[in-house]
Amino acid sequence: MARTSHDTWWKNAVFYQIYPLSFCDSDGDSYGDLRGVISKLDYLAGALGVDALWLSPFYQSPMKDWGYDISDHTDVDPLMGDLDTARELIEEAHSKGLRVIVDYVINHTSDQHPWFLESRSSRTSPKRDWYVWRDGRDGNPPNNWVSVFSGPSWSYDQESRQWYRHTYLRDQPDLNWRNPEVVEAMFDVARFWLDMGVDGFRVDAAHQMMKDPQERDNPPAPPDYPRPYKNMGEYDDFIHLYDFSHPDVHEIHRRLRAVTDAYERDVLTVGEIHIFDLPEWASYYGEDFDQLNMPFNFHLMTAEWNVPSLRAVIEAVLWNVPVGGWTNWTLGNHDEVRLATRLPDGHERLAALLLLTIRGTPFLYYGDELGMRQVAVDRDQARDPWGHNVSWLSRDGARTPMHWSDEPNAGFGPAGATTWLPIAPDYIKLNVETELGNADSTLNLYRRLIALRKAHPALRVGSFLSHPSSSGDVFAYRRESDSETMTVVLNFAEEERTIDVGRGELVFSTADPERQDRIGGAVALGPREGVVIEHV
Ligand code: NOJ
Repeated sequence: MARTSHDTWWKNAVFYQIYPLSFCDSDGDSYGDLRGVISKLDYLAGALGVDALWLSPFYQSPMKDWGYDISDHTDVDPLMGDLDTARELIEEAHSKGLRVIVDYVINHTSDQHPWFLESRSSRTSPKRDWYVWRDGRDGNPPNNWVSVFSGPSWSYDQESRQWYRHTYLRDQPDLNWRNPEVVEAMFDVARFWLDMGVDGFRVDAAHQMMKDPQERDNPPAPPDYPRPYKNMGEYDDFIHLYDFSHPDVHEIHRRLRAVTDAYERDVLTVGEIHIFDLPEWASYYGEDFDQLNMPFNFHLMTAEWNVPSLRAVIEAVLWNVPVGGWTNWTLGNHDEVRLATRLPDGHERLAALLLLTIRGTPFLYYGDELGMRQVAVDRDQARDPWGHNVSWLSRDGARTPMHWSDEPNAGFGPAGATTWLPIAPDYIKLNVETELGNADSTLNLYRRLIALRKAHPALRVGSFLSHPSSSGDVFAYRRESDSETMTVVLNFAEEERTIDVGRGELVFSTADPERQDRIGGAVALGPREGVVIEHV
């Protein structure tokens, strides 16, 4: 397998993540659905101008983890539609020039999946070994592993008197990827969606399905043990030596890659690799680019929001991407606190410029293009199984319904329909319809940026070189392709700043859509202004 060419669609694309339950409710049942997504394709492909969609799960599910607990991989949950609608969505999206990748939840199923029901039915079930069943230790779980969502990673089944493993909820039993029948069954799931026309997968928990075969206890973490960037509750009490990213996982990725490469078209796999040790993270490309096309890159979210920290993270990631490989960047998703809430006041526009101009494929999270903020969801309205008792963990606040208009339910559903999660009060101002009509809106900034990226190969596939003085509060970097050279400058200061970047034409400013100066060498930026200069 070889490095990817610069023409590869997913290198050139801007991705947009849709959380289908929260995007658009076409039938008024309070949940977003696939028909709703179809009705917004013109917004996505036209008004906003993105190139590809990542759809979070819409498969049949008891919704304990809102679709990440799948009970039928090859059917659509009735809350969100049916298979015909999924097919129609993929076809309609393609006809508008949008690619579609879907979530491939590989580590676990729902405990209501027929595979698990059968596995659970008796110790002698032919599917017993499809999941991980163990005897305990003196009436206790087999080892000290804890679930990502806290509590033991093992639950006891009274009937068959054994423990089963679950990296997440007890309703999400882990598949046994060491069983070849499981591997084939799950690859058939991938083929099912590829045959339906999807352009690839976001592979969920892609580093977790292989664990220490000896199932040794994890050592406790000392209090000063480094944490990536967010508090994970009880999960942080351990060093995850044995229940995480076992080297055997790479063989699964090699085989998955063979499945996707068997298709003539260029299929993308981008895997959720929540690993912050860069060489280990990069190992998921495979030595010969024969594993994931890209591990998802969450590193930007680990940086402190200042120039030295951002620059260090960006340079470290780009250096660690294997030569010939390609990365991606994101500032938000359905598991994280909303971007606009995490950023210091007034920095949203800089964040958008950064995300859409660093070297790597940008992934946007629905609603961030409007500046949607984290919503404080009351406990009695909580939906997320994680963090009910610990408000900082709950992900509900980042999953509230998309704001389409200033109608009472933000245009999310038909008039009078309720919504499964509350709507942020600021939807009156922050919504698609209103923002489209306001030249200075966040939405129009994203639109202009996406169009700029589309118009300039240097911004898509060009090399990246930071300005040597990018250490104080001004960050500047150059992007250079065969045909173009551009410089991006971001002023994080509350005052004006000037920096010498060479002669050129200013083609973009976050502050003023009309600004278009000739730059004689030094460019002056207003407080928190970001600009792009084309060297002609
Ligand atoms: C990662 C997903 O992004 C998250 O939403 C989910 O809860 C877990 N994996 C389990 O599937």
